Amino acid sequence: MPPEAVPITKTRVTQSRLMLPTDANIHGNVHGGMIVKYIDELGGIITARHAKANTVTASIDRMHFYKPVYIGNLLILKGAINYVGRKSMEVGVKVFAEDLTSGSVVHTGSCYSTFVALDRSGNTVPVPPIVPETPEEKHWYEGAKARRQRRLEDREARVRRTSLKAQKSGDVATESNIESEGH
Ligand SMILES: CC(C)(COP(=O)(O)OP(=O)(O)OC[C@H]1O[C@@H](n2cnc3c(N)ncnc32)[C@H](O)[C@@H]1OP(=O)(O)O)[C@@H](O)C(=O)NCCC(=O)NCCS
Repeated sequence: MPPEAVPITKTRVTQSRLMLPTDANIHGNVHGGMIVKYIDELGGIITARHAKANTVTASIDRMHFYKPVYIGNLLILKGAINYVGRKSMEVGVKVFAEDLTSGSVVHTGSCYSTFVALDRSGNTVPVPPIVPETPEEKHWYEGAKARRQRRLEDREARVRRTSLKAQKSGDVATESNIESEGH
């Protein structure tokens, strides 16, 4: 019997952490890479809980940092699964910075990433479907479906380009030279 669809609400996780000097540069600005690390960590928690399996990041969509985050801010990350394919899950994470003395909370960035579930042997495995319930969740679901389509098309185009190049040079197109194509 196929697994029952899980309401999107059940996939939500919020995580908070105090930004320390080890997160930042000498001027007190938190490094973008640290924020991406925390986003990735949260995505791993959300998807492993949903898939009940190990999950790995397949891709991270472009990340915009709208506002700075400083040492002493409480970084708040709110994430949920937006869409599930067969073996992949798109996670959306919104990042906020809270100034603990004034209480002001600022939306500083957002990111979409795709995770894939693996079994104990490292093979990719199907994950339970999700179901959007509220109008807002339905909106996210449709947006994620369109983004997934674009990612698949990008991937196919990359494979085609690399195969063509390999044919010309007599090389064999492998997953690693497909992924490094363009660098
Ligand atoms: C992610 C990974 C497991 C996918 O392997 P694969 O052989 O392409 O897997 P499959 O063909 O079985 O596809 C599994 C799913 O991943 C999706 N997928 C694969 N590459 C993807 C990418 N770059 N972006 C988004 N989704 C991707 C496929 O669309 C498929 O989803 P679906 O079943 O919902 O349609 C593999 O590329 C990998 O191990 N990458 C390294 C992961 C890692 O270590 N991440 C940490 C950072 S280094």
